[in-house]
This record gives sequence, structure tokens and C-alpha cells, in this order.
Amino acid sequence: MPKGSKKSRTSAKKSARARKPAKAVKKAKKGKKAVAYKGIQRKFHLKTLRKPMKRRQSKLKLKLPKSRRRLTVRITKQRNKDMILILDFGSQYTQLIARRIRENKVFSRIVPFNISAEEIQKLKPKGLILSGGPLSVYDTNAPMPKPEIFKLGLPILGICYGMQVITKMFGGTVKKSKDREYGRAELFVDSNKDLFANLPTNLTCWMSHGDEINKVPPGFITMAHTLSAPSASIANRSKKLYAVQFHPEVVHTQRGTTILTNFVYQICGCLPRWTMSKFIEGSIKQMKETVGKKKVVLGLSGGVDSSVAAMLIHKAIGSNLKCIFVDNGLLRNNEVSTVEKTFKGHFKINLTTVDAKRRFLQRLKNIEDPELKRKIIGEEFVKVFQENAKKVKGVSFLGQGTLYPDVIESISPLGGPSATIKSHHNVGGLPKSMKLELIEPLRELFKDEVRVIGKHLGIPDHILQRQPFPGPGLAIRIIGPVTEERLEILRQADERVLEEIKKAGLYNQVWQSFAVLLPIKTVGVMGDQRTYENVVALRCVSSQDGMTADWVQLPFELLGKISNRIINEVAGVNRVVYDISSKPPSTIEWE
Ligand code: XMP
Repeated sequence: MPKGSKKSRTSAKKSARARKPAKAVKKAKKGKKAVAYKGIQRKFHLKTLRKPMKRRQSKLKLKLPKSRRRLTVRITKQRNKDMILILDFGSQYTQLIARRIRENKVFSRIVPFNISAEEIQKLKPKGLILSGGPLSVYDTNAPMPKPEIFKLGLPILGICYGMQVITKMFGGTVKKSKDREYGRAELFVDSNKDLFANLPTNLTCWMSHGDEINKVPPGFITMAHTLSAPSASIANRSKKLYAVQFHPEVVHTQRGTTILTNFVYQICGCLPRWTMSKFIEGSIKQMKETVGKKKVVLGLSGGVDSSVAAMLIHKAIGSNLKCIFVDNGLLRNNEVSTVEKTFKGHFKINLTTVDAKRRFLQRLKNIEDPELKRKIIGEEFVKVFQENAKKVKGVSFLGQGTLYPDVIESISPLGGPSATIKSHHNVGGLPKSMKLELIEPLRELFKDEVRVIGKHLGIPDHILQRQPFPGPGLAIRIIGPVTEERLEILRQADERVLEEIKKAGLYNQVWQSFAVLLPIKTVGVMGDQRTYENVVALRCVSSQDGMTADWVQLPFELLGKISNRIINEVAGVNRVVYDISSKPPSTIEWE
């Protein structure tokens, strides 16, 4: 770079500024405290190491007036984990906003839309995002945020419904669009500053709205428009309020991530410091402090969540973690031995396998109703787990692999995006009567983040990349009563499906691939013999989160191969069919 170029001049200025504090403190002695404070604050922006910072602060405490001292410390604390709060107005994309921000290394948390200003202050975010939502701001039950949140002086970005909320609350008006806008639209940027900095003037954006801004609120300017929405983005820069009608968080919005990071980095001043290795460090430290020498008991299922939770807790407290693996007899082939080999054999985790096959089968005898099956399995799991947890002397904590989406759903005043269709996730529901404190190290993380953590911790891919497997296991893939004989047929068929899907390189690309045993027999012919045997259905779906799913168009050759192998190799099956239903209206599991 040429010496006198703009870039080199700026970096020279920067390093001069970074060096300032020592001088500045001297000046502060002479009474020029404002300059001193400015310099010191700048220094903290640039330095990331904790210890030198702390030392410098304690030195400064003697030099700065009280009010400023407090402010300096607060800045330091926030800098370690800048946070954006997302107020959830019920959009299907709320979680996506949170993930996009985290992908850019800034921590984000979803909170209910009606969070109070005091609660927000306690969390110390650097900015707020108002999510989209399914309602119109003029609907009688339209969710509205507390007006006080706008007095906190925090930068706010409203997205879609969030934009309409800002418009209404600041004296603008919203009306039903003549043409509802769904899908791609051409966006013309009218102001290339802050939110739209470093972006071209024409962008494709993703719209999904029935209402639009009719009158821009006083004090706001239009930042972008589309052919059908004259105000597709508005802002009041002095109040740090920004809003967009489209969805920057979805992939179909060109450079949508830049729009979000412009808000997060430039407008809110966050630094990209949220990394998984930092998370692991912090989480281990916190668990060590909380648990001390006490014991934690955890139900290991071999799935991604409980496996990563177990490894993380184990890193923190070692052999004081006692894992219990309940073999309910409804697991896939070789599942018990794989889990034992990995966790007990390789990672030396304290693991007890409880053989409860007979108990589960006994209770499931002649049960056909899917919901009843789920209920029984859930209840029995709790009983077995409780009995065995009690055997662990001096246990005080219950470890669980609860993830952030479960937390969001349980706190959402709008019910969360997935209204309960089946009594899901029974495994998470251990009773309060256990009187154990909960340790949930993953409750702030999304699934993909959990996988990254698992990788950091050395968990093998065959566990981390496992397709989801339901808590009630094969029982909800056997339509009709569950018997040992039918379980064995399904296990054998299922194993062949997985083998072939893996061989075709599709295992990690699809959401789930499995076999279902149907309650009907059909006629077939094998050799010269007439047969009258079971039908197996193949289910292979693609999905982002299990909420919606589509059937995968598997190659005919692969379908043929799977069918041949099952019919030839699994005794008791003479027909294979392929399930070509999407969710909705079907569900992924058959029961
Ligand atoms: P459905 O069948 O509702 O399934 O489309 C969506 C996703 O959830 C999984 N699933 C479960 N997971 N306990 C679980 O831990 C359950 O009871 C349960 N039921 C379904 C299912 O495999 C799919 O990935």
C-alpha cells in the first residue's frame, strides 16, 4: 500500500489513537478528563485480552470521576458478549433472524414481544429487532411492544410486521396492500448509508406481506422502495430507528446478511466475538462453579443433543457426571453397543445401561392408539430413569440436552411456530418431583451450533450427523400393536434402508430416511410359493427443521435396490412401498 494512501493514513490514525490512553491519563491529571475518557474507551474497543484490561481499569479508577468509571466497566463487560434481542411477534422466520446474527458471531436471543423495558435493560443488549408476524397491526389482538422500549435509546430494526409496528407507534399509517406481495421483488435503494452501506442500489428482496406503509411517520425518511411498495424501508436516524418491509434474514433476499450485519455492527456497534470455542470455555467454567463437587445425572439417548450435553458436562465435572442409557427395546439395530462403545469405551464417561426392554414391551402389549403409545413410553421412561437416578448417591442436578428452539417455544406468548400436533419430545419432560436442579448447557443454542460444539469436543461424525430419531423409537413406526417379532422385522428392514442411503451418499443430505412396518399383509410369490406377508413403507424426507418436510425424489435404481434387499433379506416382508407425502398435510413419522 502506498505510504500516503487513505488506508494507511487511517490505520496510522487508529494506532495513534490506540496508543493514546497512557498520554490521556497524564492529561486527565491536568484536568482534561473528557479527552482522557474518549481515548480510554477507544483503547478498550481495540484490545480484547481480559487481564491487561482489568489491570488498566483498576489504574483508571483512581483517575476518572465515579460516573465514568462505572460506564467504563460496563462497556468492558458488554464487549465480551455483545447481544441483540429479537422481539418475537410470531413470524415463521424469527429463529432465522437469530441464527443469521449468530452466524456473524454476535450473540442473539429471542424474547417475547411484550418484554418490559426494565427486563431489556437487565439483559443489556446493544440493539433490538422487531420480528415479522402473521397479524395486521390493526387487528384487535395485534401484538404490540411496550412503548417504553422505544425510550431506551437502543437502535431498533423492525422487519415486516415490526416495520408496521414502528410506523403505527410513531404516527404513520399502515393500510392493506392492493396487491399482496409474496416472493421476490426488485428493491431500489434510495439511501446507501448505514443500513444499506456497501450495497448496490438494486437488489432482489423477499417480500411476504398483506399490509404496507401508507404514510411514513414524521421524522422518518424512505431508504428504499419497490414498484409496489413506495416505502420498503424507512429510518429515523437520530432516533436510531430502522425498518424494512422485506425479510433480510431469508436466503432469497440478495445480500440480506449484509443488511443485518450493517445493523448489528455499524448501527449497534457490536463486535463479532461470539464463537463456539468461547462458548465451550464459558460453559465449562460456569458448570464447574455451579456444580462444584456435587453429582449430575443425565439420560443419554445417543442422539446429538444428549451426547453433546453429556460431553460438555463431562469436560466440566468428569466422573461426577453419571449417565443413564435406558434400553427400551425400541431402538435401532446395534444402537446400544454403538453408544456404549463411544461414550463408555472411548470417552470414559460414567455410563450405566438399563435393560428395560421387557417392561416397555409389557406395557405396550395390544396398544394400537399412537398417542397412547407415546404416553406409555414417556411415562415408563420417566419411571425407569427415576428408579436408576435414585441409585446414584448424592445426586443434586439433572443434566439435559434442551436446545434453544424448545426454550423459545415454551416461552412464546404466541405459542411458537409449531402448535402441538403429536405429544412430542416426551423425553425432555422429566417430572418436577425429582427435585433436582437442571443443568442445560445447550439451552441457548441451535442444532447446527450444537453440532459445531460436538465437533470441537471430538464427538465422532456418526453421532453428530445422526438423523433425528424420535424418543418413542420404533414403536411409532410399527403401525398397530408392538411385539418383539414385529420390532425385529422393522429393525432388519430399517438397517437395510440406512445402509443403502449411506452407500448412495445421501445420509447427511436428507433429514430422515427410515422404514415403517404396516399393519397389513399382502399376497406375494417367492420361488413357486405363495406368500402372505408384511408390507414395509419407505420414508425419506428433506427438511430444515422438521416443521415442514418434503419427500425426497430418490433415484429409481436406489428405490429398487432397497426394495430388493428388504424383500430378499428380511423374513416376513414381501412388499415395499414408497411414501410420497409432504408435511403438511402428512407428518414425518406415521404415528
Ligand atoms: P412429525 O412426525 O411430527 O415429526 O412430522 C417431526 C420431527 O420430530 C421427530 N419426532 C420426535 N422426536 N420425540 C422426539 O424426540 C418424539 O416423540 C417425536 N415424534 C416425532 C420426528 O422424527 C421428526 O424428525
